[in-house]
Amino acid sequence: MVQPTKKLSTKKKDTSADTTYKACSISESYLANFYQLVWKYSGYKRAFDPKNLDLVLKRSLPSIAEIWRSYNCDRESLSGFNFNTPKYSFSYLVGFHLPNVARFKAVFDRMIPRINPEEFLKYDTVNIWDIGCGSGACSSSFIDSFLELLDRYQYKGKSLKFKVHLVDRASHFLTIAQDLISSYLDTINLNGYSYNIEYSISTYRSSIESFTPRSDFISSKDNELNVYIAGYVYNEISQKQKGSAQFERLVKKMAGSGSSLLFLLDPANQTPSKNLASFKNRIVNYGFYTLYPCSFESKCCPLLDKKDWCYTEAYFKKDRLTQLVDKVLKTQRSKINTCSFILTNDSSFINKNLKNPVTLIGKPIIKADRTQSHIQYLLCDGEHVFKKEDDKSSLLKGELYKKN
Ligand SMILES: C[S@@+](CC[C@H](N)C(=O)[O-])C[C@H]1O[C@@H](n2cnc3c(N)ncnc32)[C@H](O)[C@@H]1O
Repeated sequence: MVQPTKKLSTKKKDTSADTTYKACSISESYLANFYQLVWKYSGYKRAFDPKNLDLVLKRSLPSIAEIWRSYNCDRESLSGFNFNTPKYSFSYLVGFHLPNVARFKAVFDRMIPRINPEEFLKYDTVNIWDIGCGSGACSSSFIDSFLELLDRYQYKGKSLKFKVHLVDRASHFLTIAQDLISSYLDTINLNGYSYNIEYSISTYRSSIESFTPRSDFISSKDNELNVYIAGYVYNEISQKQKGSAQFERLVKKMAGSGSSLLFLLDPANQTPSKNLASFKNRIVNYGFYTLYPCSFESKCCPLLDKKDWCYTEAYFKKDRLTQLVDKVLKTQRSKINTCSFILTNDSSFINKNLKNPVTLIGKPIIKADRTQSHIQYLLCDGEHVFKKEDDKSSLLKGELYKKN
């Protein structure tokens, strides 16, 4: 096992919530690589110039609008857009990849105060399984966030191996995702990010229904961390008996041995959120602890029978391409939402210093008078939901509530 060059500080950190809004932004190195890739797939022959991003958009606009319409008209019962053509997979890359990178990053960041970083960062091999990977938004965002976290805790010079496994039924997506992750990791190595990174990427063109994992689906080696990601795919299979049953079998395996993390993300709309929460309630029985949004081994999801539901809110410091897409689609994705759960089968990942964590799950506004609005926070301590009045809104759904 490779040791960190500098030991983690033993000084106790303040793990209470930061009440200032922090917009989540995608790293410069990620964006630079991503723009180059988009340019390559757009088919232009000349060298990339960031001033030409609008040309990329022009080329893909009708199909971006088509995907957007499909998401918005049929979101509650989304049966899945067929991305298996270069036109649609490229348009997804241009229009929808980066906001999903930001959503994943926001969720990863929310996990940080809830974990014990020393346990989490000690591995020298990370097995990533991105199921329904699409253009690789979530797995590439995991790698970027993981490297940032290593940097923050000063694991400089660390040798690290990423074994990335990409599963999707759409072959064009597999090509794009593989290209994105390999070019990003090559750039990181070239720029001397202060890590020695080795990587391998395997692709599996398969439906979830017929995906049969081999023995490398889960590693029980002490130096290996298993990371499983299902980004915006459960909502597409949850109503299909065969797909959802096979997905649940895979999830059961994930909990079985080794040290594993499972990231589940879906749209924040009512039906997909409640379906994902019910799924999470079922799968904790296989031996998972919940790391986010509730903070310990709770099965309850108290909002399940109510009109309200639990999801993550975050702000996104939009990059140039997303700004252009938002302008033409007349959308505003500087505020992003996602329903998400992070589970682990390894209790050593849990930050035990975080005593009785309370998460903000809702905030109906109570208008007191014309000049002042009071916020009634809806809070969850993992077992109970309760209300608390506050004078101003400063927290987002999914953040830890700071007790004054
Ligand atoms: C909305 S996209 C999300 C892509 C990516 N995970 C992300 O976060 O951007 C859903 C992906 O799941 C894939 N997918 C949907 N149903 C599937 C199934 N039954 N088997 C395999 N892949 C599936 C689609 O091809 C698509 O790539």
